[in-house]
Amino acid sequence: MKIASIVGARPQFIKCAPVSRELRKDHEEVLVHTGQHYDHGMSEVFFEELRIPKPDYNLNIGSGTHGHQTGAMLGAIEDVLRKENPDLVLVYGDTNSTLAGALAAAKLHIPVAHVEAGLRSNDRRMPEEVNRVLTDHASDLLFCPTETAVANLAAEGITGGVHLVGDVMLDAMNYNRALAEERSRVLEEVGVRPGEYLVITVHRPSNTDNRENMAAILGALGEAGRPVVFPVHPRTRKYLSEYGLLAEMPENVRVAEPLGYLDMIRLMAHAEKVLTDSGGIQKEAYMLGVPCITLRENTEWVETVEAGWNALVGAERERIIDAIRYLSPGSRQMGIFGNGNASVLIGEILTGLKGARSR
Ligand code: UD1
Repeated sequence: MKIASIVGARPQFIKCAPVSRELRKDHEEVLVHTGQHYDHGMSEVFFEELRIPKPDYNLNIGSGTHGHQTGAMLGAIEDVLRKENPDLVLVYGDTNSTLAGALAAAKLHIPVAHVEAGLRSNDRRMPEEVNRVLTDHASDLLFCPTETAVANLAAEGITGGVHLVGDVMLDAMNYNRALAEERSRVLEEVGVRPGEYLVITVHRPSNTDNRENMAAILGALGEAGRPVVFPVHPRTRKYLSEYGLLAEMPENVRVAEPLGYLDMIRLMAHAEKVLTDSGGIQKEAYMLGVPCITLRENTEWVETVEAGWNALVGAERERIIDAIRYLSPGSRQMGIFGNGNASVLIGEILTGLKGARSR
């Protein structure tokens, strides 16, 4: 089969790496980068480290309001699909690139496969929630990472084409964990010792676009009583500087540029706790056995909360401080995210499809 894979944002590069490796054993892949993330540290570094083949197309769409960004991607992806005429379009996760890819394909009657289908936060104010719901409803094949995701789809009447395969981020983690330990010098570069620091990432509009939330989060970090490493996403840097908060950073917080995959994995693996509003980092913390404090009121990864390894604390100073001091999970339940063979299963399902088609 000829498969067009659409990626555009940092988490999608990580997800596509193991899947692309499997697909290319049996299929022809056309890799399309929308250009949603374009800084070297947000894009190229992931292609290099994860050894993802160079995209066949870079659409260079870049930043914009949601409507403009998604609309520009929709038109540009349609042009590529008309030219390449693939048998299937593969999309990942929940970004504007995901929705644009799914919609462009569905309108051209090309089957759509969605990796990381069925996730729900039940918060329609999150742009990602709208992207997920619409993408799932436009998809023919839905690859779910968890049982909860399968149940979420069933609750919306989607049962055909649904496959529980596990999480491709676990595949990426297993593949790169040892390599991260071998190659990354991030702890030494930042100047922190294993087990004696926290890591934080913040990039969700619900936090970044709200001065009060950012001030509360930074205030709590100032009370942490140990170093906090803060790799800053470009949107967050822009807002912190506008709010005047970059200049008022607590002295124990070490601000860094966005990190590559291997550095981030090693930094998280040796942290005492991780604070984040990212979806992917909540999962990665669990996979690494590091307690996670989530700076949101809801999550798609409810299993990590139920297991006691993830605390939802919003952007409230006191709740964050409490979690930094007291969050102490018990034993880790394995298997939430599958067996680390999600990309193999996806490859097998697609190859079965190829057999079915050629008969
Ligand atoms: C996007 C995804 C989000 C995902 C995140 C991972 C959507 C709706 N959101 O959010 O789900 O978790 O990626 O990082 O698709 N910018 C740069 N350089 C870059 C990229 C972005 O400076 O390489 C800045 C620009 O100011 C831009 C802002 O960051 O306006 C936001 O970028 P955008 O890709 O629109 O959304 P993210 O916040 O990264």
